[in-house]
Order: sequence, then C-alpha cells, then structure tokens
Amino acid sequence: MATFARTLVTSALPYANGRIHIGHLAGAYLPADIFVRFLRMRGKDVLFVCGSDEHGVPITLRAMEEGTTPQAVIDRFHGENEAAFRAAGIDFDIYGRTSWPEHHAATAEFFRRLEAGGHIEKRTIQQYFSTKMSMFLPDRYVEGTCPKCGAANARGDQCDACGTSYEVTDLRDPRSAVPGDGSTPVLRDSQHWFLRLDRFQERLGAWLEAKTEWRANTRGTALGWLREGLRPRCVTRDTEWGVEIPVDDPERRGKRIYVWFDAPIGYVTNTRVWAARRGAPDAWERYWKAPDARIVHFIGKDNIPFHAIIFPAMLAGQGDYTLPDAVVANEYLNFLRAGEAAAVKFSKSRGTVVEVQAFVDTYGADRMRYYLTAIAPEGSDSEFSWTDFLRRTNGELADILGNFIHRSLSFAVKNFDARVPAAGALDEAGRRALAAVAERRDEVGRLIERFQFRQAQIAMLELARLGNRYFDEQQPWATRRSDPARCAGTLHVCLQLGAGLARMMGPFLPESAGRLAGMLGVEDPHAPGAWGRIGEDLLAEGAPIRPPEILFPKLMPEDVPQ
Ligand code: MF3
Ligand code: ZN
Repeated sequence: MATFARTLVTSALPYANGRIHIGHLAGAYLPADIFVRFLRMRGKDVLFVCGSDEHGVPITLRAMEEGTTPQAVIDRFHGENEAAFRAAGIDFDIYGRTSWPEHHAATAEFFRRLEAGGHIEKRTIQQYFSTKMSMFLPDRYVEGTCPKCGAANARGDQCDACGTSYEVTDLRDPRSAVPGDGSTPVLRDSQHWFLRLDRFQERLGAWLEAKTEWRANTRGTALGWLREGLRPRCVTRDTEWGVEIPVDDPERRGKRIYVWFDAPIGYVTNTRVWAARRGAPDAWERYWKAPDARIVHFIGKDNIPFHAIIFPAMLAGQGDYTLPDAVVANEYLNFLRAGEAAAVKFSKSRGTVVEVQAFVDTYGADRMRYYLTAIAPEGSDSEFSWTDFLRRTNGELADILGNFIHRSLSFAVKNFDARVPAAGALDEAGRRALAAVAERRDEVGRLIERFQFRQAQIAMLELARLGNRYFDEQQPWATRRSDPARCAGTLHVCLQLGAGLARMMGPFLPESAGRLAGMLGVEDPHAPGAWGRIGEDLLAEGAPIRPPEILFPKLMPEDVPQ
C-alpha cells in the first residue's frame, strides 16, 4: 500500500428528510469512524467530513406529506441527525449542510468549470408532464408497472421489487405520484443540461483498472458501467428546490441542478467551510488537490455509481482535483424479527425502524457500536435481531472483555494494594502473553487498513480472550498464598494487557476505552500516536489503579423488545 501524507474520509451525506437508523449507521458511518479514530491514534493527518443532503425529491416529498416547507423539514432533521451522530460517538470534523450559501456557490463553480471544458451541454428531452397539475414530473413523481418484473407501484426510475433501474419512459402504465394528482402524464419536450460522462470513459477506465483491492461489489458495479459504455446524463430537474442552474438562459426557469450532482460536492464544500473556520481558507486544497493525499468514501451500496463513476468524472472535469483512492461500499443491514424466518428492510411503516438516538439512549453507544460492527454487512447483507444483540453483547462484550478487565483490576485492588505489582522473573507463558499485545495491535491495524472492521474487532477481542485464558491457567487465586511473587507477575501481565486493550478498544468502543484508561491511569486512548505505544509504553510497577467499574453491565431478556 502506498503511503499518504493526508487522508480525507467522507461518509455519505444523509438526506435530511428523516431520522437516521442503525442500518444507515452500520453502512456508511460507523466503519468510517473506526477508520478515522484509528488513523488519528496513529498520529496521521486525517479529516472526517459529513453533513446533511438537503435537496431533492426526498425532501420535497416529506414536506408535502407533512404539509410544511422543505426548509422546515431540513432544519429539523439536520439538527436531530447531527445530535444522533454525536451520541453514537461518530466524530466528524464538520457536519455541514447543502443548503449553505457556500455550497450553492461551490456547486455553481463545479458546473461552470465543467461547462467551460465542454463537459456539459443542453439537450431537448421528452419528459412526463401532468396536465392536471401543469408541471413536469421528476422521475420520482411517476409510478407505474415495472418493465422488467411487472410489479405494480414501481418507482419512476427504479423498481423496489426486483432492483432494476431504468428510464422513466420505460415504465408501463405511468401515473403521477404527486399527492392529489394521480393522472396519467403525457410526454412533452423539455430542455435540460447533460453531463458528458462519455468523455470520461478512458480516464475512469484507467483509474479503475488499478483499483484491484476494492471490494467486489464496488469494483464490479463500476466496471459494469464502463463495460456498458458511459452515456451523457441529465444533471438538472424540473423542481424549485435545489441549487440554481448557473447559466444565462431563460430555459432554466422552474429547473434546478439535480440533487445527485450537488450532493457529493457537499464533501468539498464542507471541507472548505472547515478550513475557513480554522482561519486557513486554503487548507481544504491539501485534501482535494494534493497528490500525496488520499480520499476515501464510505457509502451504502445503492450509492456506488455516484461515487465510483459520476462524481469521479465531475472531479476529473475540474482539472486539478484528485480522484478517490478508495470507495468502501457496504451491503444492507436488514431487520430480523423474533420468530420470523426472513429478515426485512428497516421500514418506518412496518414498525421495523431502530433509530440511532433511541438505541443509544437505551443501551449506550458502545453496545450499539460493538454489535453493529460484529454484524457489519461487509461482504453480503446481514441481519440485526434483538435476541442476537442480547446474546452477543452479554456473551462477548460483558463475558469476555468486561470480565477480563474486572477480574484483573479487582484482584489487583484487593490483593496488591491497588497498585501494579512487580513483574519479577516472568515465565514463558507470561512473556508470550505480553508479546501478544503488540502482535494483536499490528493485526488489528492491518485489518482496519484493509477495511475489514468486523475481523478487526474480533482480533481486538481476541486479546481479552487470551487474557482470560492466561488468568485461568495461572490461577492467581491459588498462587496468592503458595507463590506470591508468581501471583504478582500474573497480575502484572494482566494489567499490561488491560492497558493495551484500553487503547486497542479506542477505534471501536471510544467511550469504554476512555473509562478503562481512567481506571488504569493511562493516557487518553485517543491521544495522537497512542496506537504505536500499545504494548510499548507499559504500566510502571507500583503505579496506582482504581477500583473497577463494570464496563458493560449485563442486559436481561426483558431489557430488549420481544
Ligand atoms: N443522500 C444520499 C442517500 O442517502 C447520499 C448522498 S451521498 C453524496 O442515499 F455523496 F451525494 F453526498
Ligand atoms: Zn421490477
């Protein structure tokens, strides 16, 4: 792997049209946060950028449903989602908004540069028009029968039943989905602006060719688009809600830039605002325009074409931007209800949504983070279930990690006057256990660098497992009388493992890592460079430790929904 001076990490900007749920969190936010915390702990220069996606049909639909304005919708959910991320320990450097004037300006700049380079052109297209409402209908405002599988109620551009995407004109029996309309729309000529994706075929092909380490879902989708041949794509829509089209042309009336054109530019805007707030307005360019910086996008799989083809083309068309080094796309997390055989989507109407804020309020951020990482949908879809959540947080977090910490610290508090006992002459088992700390550190680090967070967390927990085995084998409760020096050595080793764990937990379980560090009197696990000191910077003999608090109290079956 090449080395980089800087890393920019982005998580998909969630639509500010509803509260984020744990399916979102597991896909694009939690893995990114683990990656970022790890890089910070290694003392790397890393910037973590996210924010609300505040344009597009999802926002206007919600406003119509609630009989309110798009502005009221985005103000509400921007605030709620930012707070939910904070509660979950997702540590963005900035959480911006695409409604910011800075964003409208940045989007206009992107558009103009593409146009100046000949990459945007105006075309006449046929578009559905509702004579009843006298308006053009964006794709999402048209419903009908899926041309592929025949499902009724397919959306204008995509069928939820079979997953196919198509042109809205391919839909059978179209009707308007505008609330209160329902009429059959007619096709009319309309002028729109197109991004000449076809002009980037070669450049993107060469760039993707080299990305052999990308996950199969991401690379496969991107290569599939290239194989089909990139075609011009419409980047404007008939709507009043969005960024104005920066052209001097009466045809732009009633039209705005398509949300999927402006939203990824939000990553750039938010980096720029972050830099301006720090009083270094040019500092954003060190992440977006420097050959020694890498950009890593974390997304859900439905966002792959936008991040692996369309946005890279937009960046390439600017002339001086770097293309992303990695696009990390997760599959879906579904919800498995007790007693049912098949998992379903998280859906508000079906009562299967688990909102992030509510989850954290009830169970704490770290239990949620642990479980969502343990079942992360990295290679295929995975399932959330309450019984599994109970089983794994009790059986792994509490029984393995929590138990090792608690038995070691309470033994040392009780029998060694709350101080780190002397190592003495360690035997082979003791030396091996100590050496395992740095080995685990390197293993966890390697896995995180490869975006294998599920495996990385298992490797972290492995150190606690090993600690428990060592504790059991050494039987300090017996050697306490028979061989006090040996008992001291055992506890010395266990506490060193605890100090290693305090830091190694940092990326995964930030809050508990901090609490454990406090009990052991070691540095803040999130201090820059702390990762490299795992297993090197040891607890001093005689250093005081505090009576342990229970890190992960057990949950009872009645504590989770049935
Ligand atoms: N709001 C989109 C979604 O939820 C994601 C936008 S990602 C960005 O699917 F790159 F466009 F910002
Ligand atoms: Zn279908």
